[in-house]
Amino acid sequence: MSARYEVKLRPLRAADLPRVVRLEQELFGSSAWTYGMLAEELGALGRWYVAAEPVRLYAAGPQELIGYAGLWFDGDVTQIMTIGVDPQYQHLGIGSVLLTALIDRSRQVGASAVLLEVRVDNDAALAMYGKFGFEQLGIRKRYYQPEDVDAYTMRLELTDDAPAAETRDAAVPDEPGVA
Ligand SMILES: CC(C)(COP(=O)(O)OP(=O)(O)OC[C@H]1O[C@@H](n2cnc3c(N)ncnc32)[C@H](O)[C@@H]1OP(=O)(O)O)[C@@H](O)C(=O)NCCC(=O)NCCS
Repeated sequence: MSARYEVKLRPLRAADLPRVVRLEQELFGSSAWTYGMLAEELGALGRWYVAAEPVRLYAAGPQELIGYAGLWFDGDVTQIMTIGVDPQYQHLGIGSVLLTALIDRSRQVGASAVLLEVRVDNDAALAMYGKFGFEQLGIRKRYYQPEDVDAYTMRLELTDDAPAAETRDAAVPDEPGVA
């Protein structure tokens, strides 16, 4: 899976959190995770977080991240904890690259399925998850607070015979989410 805007993936690091906090606020408004919540997530057991950076040929030094995503593996299934792309770079394939990496990681750790919650009015995310084969399981009433919006729960079965996701250009070093 390659983005129409070229990115490289790497583990999300503690040093990225101020940028992620800004993106969270832009993307999720009043439901945004705080710095403290993100820091706790990065350090928590079974978490795997990844950052997407632009690939710019003539740029020196590290690039500002434009997308991020993470999951939690509980020993049975993985749960997508978050996924977000800078609004200026949305609908260029970056979300799909991140989601592919999460699904690949889920297969690597031996998860039987990938689960997630998504706002019932989040058309872009719902379309993306549908394209990846996620199926709607149920609905969690008033899951998102303070907005008071319902969530769909969705599930992607990871069967042994399912084709491996194409993430050759999105490979992430196999290290924990915190550097
Ligand atoms: C959801 C999100 C991560 C998708 O990232 P993205 O980089 O824009 O996604 P992609 O470009 O890979 O698009 C994948 C598919 O998603 C759907 N999609 C993406 N943007 C869309 C939009 N603005 N309107 C409708 N569908 C859209 C399309 O089906 C698209 O496939 P296509 O390119 O063949 O049309 C991004 O919109 C985002 O950060 N949203 C805010 C945060 C959020 O809602 N996260 C999900 C929480 S559950």
